[in-house]
Amino acid sequence: MKDLNELVSTEDQDFFHTYKRLKVVIERGEGCYLYTDKGEKILDMFGGLAVNVLGYNHPKINSAIEEQVKRYIHISNLFYQEKQIAFADKILQLTGFSKVFFSNSGTESVEAAIKLIRKFFLGSNKKTLISFTGSFHGRTIGALSLTARKKYRDQFEPLMPGVKHLEFNSLSDLEHHIDDNTAGVFVECIQGEGGVNIASNEFIAKINELKEKFGFIVVADEIQSGVGRTGKMHGFEHFGLDADIVALAKGIGGGLPLGAILGNDRVKDVFTVGEHGSTFGGNPVAAACGLVIYTELENGLMERVNQLGNYLMEMLNEMKAKFPDKIKDVRGKGLMIGIELNSPGQPFVEMMMQKSVLVNCTNDNVIRLLPPYVIEENDIDAFIERFSDCLLN
Ligand SMILES: Cc1ncc(COP(=O)(O)O)c(C=O)c1O
Repeated sequence: MKDLNELVSTEDQDFFHTYKRLKVVIERGEGCYLYTDKGEKILDMFGGLAVNVLGYNHPKINSAIEEQVKRYIHISNLFYQEKQIAFADKILQLTGFSKVFFSNSGTESVEAAIKLIRKFFLGSNKKTLISFTGSFHGRTIGALSLTARKKYRDQFEPLMPGVKHLEFNSLSDLEHHIDDNTAGVFVECIQGEGGVNIASNEFIAKINELKEKFGFIVVADEIQSGVGRTGKMHGFEHFGLDADIVALAKGIGGGLPLGAILGNDRVKDVFTVGEHGSTFGGNPVAAACGLVIYTELENGLMERVNQLGNYLMEMLNEMKAKFPDKIKDVRGKGLMIGIELNSPGQPFVEMMMQKSVLVNCTNDNVIRLLPPYVIEENDIDAFIERFSDCLLN
């Protein structure tokens, strides 16, 4: 294997500079730990950005992949694909939605939802799409137009017209800007990139009320907060959002690229043959992994998320009480947690890395935790101990 210096210089030469990489070489992963080429064992509290819900080297994921690879890796969506269909059936059975379309990523799921809304309201006055400050919905032009955070969009104007960004959690903004021209409302009930910001129950109730009045389509962006991450199948279930479409990705394929939209009865017949599609969408190997993930969710994995999420939250609240000058807020649900600091978060990310723990910082001062669901209480204890040490510095 090439050493770190060689990788850094080759990457620097070869790649568009879109990523800031961590200066370690990962050799393998096991459970919620990553192992470097130097034999260092890193506790992963970030889970590949909410993707590796069953951690690394999970036997059920490995055998699902192996089994499917031996049959076929890809045959195209011209065929009925057994694993894809079995997975679709499982996800609909567990979520209660009526139809699924498989994509490869979150941004593509959001694009599919935008297209569905356009078609649904074709020929009517309903053209405006609404999203909220602090939101992140993806980076393709349609999804990026919904993404409100300036740092992601400012350099890429002009984006798609007809999108309004309203203040997250502002009831009066909803009342003033949503009207008969509103076609769709995209909402992350728990904003991920925005800093693990939680919608108020009143805000979601107002969206439901306005939906009743104006008839727009509600899209729950569950790309980060779905797949059991918050202790319920979808984050919006904590708030009672009346979602017509759910956008999914990240954890849905257990580590392989996969995304999906789920639709209720209202939208189930919108797309007809040829109107939307994807060469790779619903790849059979990824679908086989998805089937493993949702079978695990069905068989108690979500209870584990709740139990460990409660434990982590309890520990963090104790830490907050101990360091009130350092920690401003601790919030989240299940295993999607943000620790808002009174100072920039990046130095803490680096200090934690020195202590062999991977955490992430988002929105400048929020340490975001998205660990694999296979994390154990003693791993959480180790995280808390090392984070407390950093706060003492
Ligand atoms: C809430 C949300 N929506 C959409 C996306 C875009 O997903 P992807 O990076 O798979 O395109 C993300 C990614 O972080 C996300 O967190």
